[in-house]
Amino acid sequence: MPSWDEQIALFWTTADDARPDETVGAMRELVAQRPADDPDALYEWASVHDYLGMETEAIPLYQTALDHGLTGDRRPQAIIQLASSLRNIGDPRAAIDLLRAHPNDQVTGDASQAFLALALRDAGHPDEALRVALVTLARTLPLYQGAVKNYAQDLADSPQNDPLEVPTICTEHVTLRPWRSDDVDAVIDASSDPHIPNITTVPKNATQESAQAFIERQYERAITGAGYSFAVEANSECVGFIGVWLRDFDEGRVTLGYWTRPGARGRGHATAALSAATAWAFETLQPPRLQLYIEPWNAGSWRAAERVGFEREGLLRSWQLVGHERRDMYMYGMTQAAYTSANI
Ligand SMILES: CC(C)(COP(=O)(O)OP(=O)(O)OC[C@H]1O[C@@H](n2cnc3c(N)ncnc32)[C@H](O)[C@@H]1OP(=O)(O)O)[C@@H](O)C(=O)NCCC(=O)NCCS
Repeated sequence: MPSWDEQIALFWTTADDARPDETVGAMRELVAQRPADDPDALYEWASVHDYLGMETEAIPLYQTALDHGLTGDRRPQAIIQLASSLRNIGDPRAAIDLLRAHPNDQVTGDASQAFLALALRDAGHPDEALRVALVTLARTLPLYQGAVKNYAQDLADSPQNDPLEVPTICTEHVTLRPWRSDDVDAVIDASSDPHIPNITTVPKNATQESAQAFIERQYERAITGAGYSFAVEANSECVGFIGVWLRDFDEGRVTLGYWTRPGARGRGHATAALSAATAWAFETLQPPRLQLYIEPWNAGSWRAAERVGFEREGLLRSWQLVGHERRDMYMYGMTQAAYTSANI
C-alpha cells in the first residue's frame, strides 16, 4: 500500500482540471484519511481548489494550514500559492505583504520574487516590480550582474518613484513618528492581541525577528507609496500604530487604521493618534474624504472615531475577511468640508 504522500504525488500526476468533480472527489477521499485539522491535508485540499480555479475557497484553507503549523516542503509552497491566489482575487497588497515577509526559500528558490513582481505590478508599482525582477535575475547572470543591479536600483530611485517621507507630528498627548528598530517590544506586545494579527501584518505571537520584519515592512509602505505608517509614542514609549493609506487616493479617499498595544489601552492614545493623523492628513494631503472600517463589536475603536468627529455612514455587510470569517464593517467617514467647518 503506497503511503499517503505517495498517493498524493500520484494524484497530482493524474489530476485533470477538465473533470473538476472527479478531481475534487479523488482528493476528498485522500484528505478524509487524515484528521480534520491535519495541516498537510488542509494544504492539499487548498491546492486542489486553487488548481481548479476556486481561489476564494483555497485562500482560507491555505491560511488554516499555515496557522496549524504546516511544515516541510509544503510550507513555502503554501505561502506562494496563497499569495498568488490573493493576487488573483484582486488583493495584490496582501500578496505583497506575505511575499515580502517570506523573501525566499530553498524549496521554492526565488519564486516568491517572481510573484512579488507580479503583485507589485497589479498594485500599481510597475517600476518597483521591474526592479524586483531585475535584481533577482541579476543574481543568475554570468556577466553584467553589477550593471543590471545598479540600473534596477536607479528605477527605484527615479523621480516618479520618490518614496513618501513619514513626518514626525507632535501633539500634546502623542507623537506620531517613523518606526524605529527599538519599537520591537511594542510590536511583540501587539502580537499577543487576539484581533491585531487578523487585521494587520503583525504576526501572531511575534519573535524579535518577526517583529523586526514588521517594522521593515512599515518602511516599505513609504517606499512603494502605499501610505504612511506611524509609530505612536506617548511618554517616550511606543504605544501603538496608526496608518494613513493611499490606495484609493486617486479616487479622493484616504483610509486610516490603528491599534494600541494591550498594555497601553484606555488612556486615550487611539483617540489622540487618530485626531493627530486626521488633522495632518486633511491639511497636508488634502483628500476630499477620510474613512475608517470598524467592526460593530469594536466599541473602543468606533468611540475613538466618533470622539474625533467621524460619522457612522452605514453598515457594510460581510465586507471583509477577518481571520477566517467574513465580517460586517461600519463605514465611518469625514469629509474635508466637515473637517474645515468643525475646525477639528
Ligand atoms: C480599539 C483600540 C484601538 C482602542 O485603543 P485605546 O488607546 O484604548 O483607545 P482610547 O483610550 O483612545 O479610547 C477610545 C474610546 O473607546 C472607549 N473604549 C476603549 N476600549 C473600550 C472597550 N474595550 N469597550 C468599550 N469602549 C472602549 C474609551 O473609553 C474611549 O471612549 P470615550 O472617549 O467615549 O471615553 C484598541 O483597543 C486596540 O488596539 N484594539 C485592537 C485593534 C483594533 O481593534 N484596532 C481598530 C481597528 S478598526
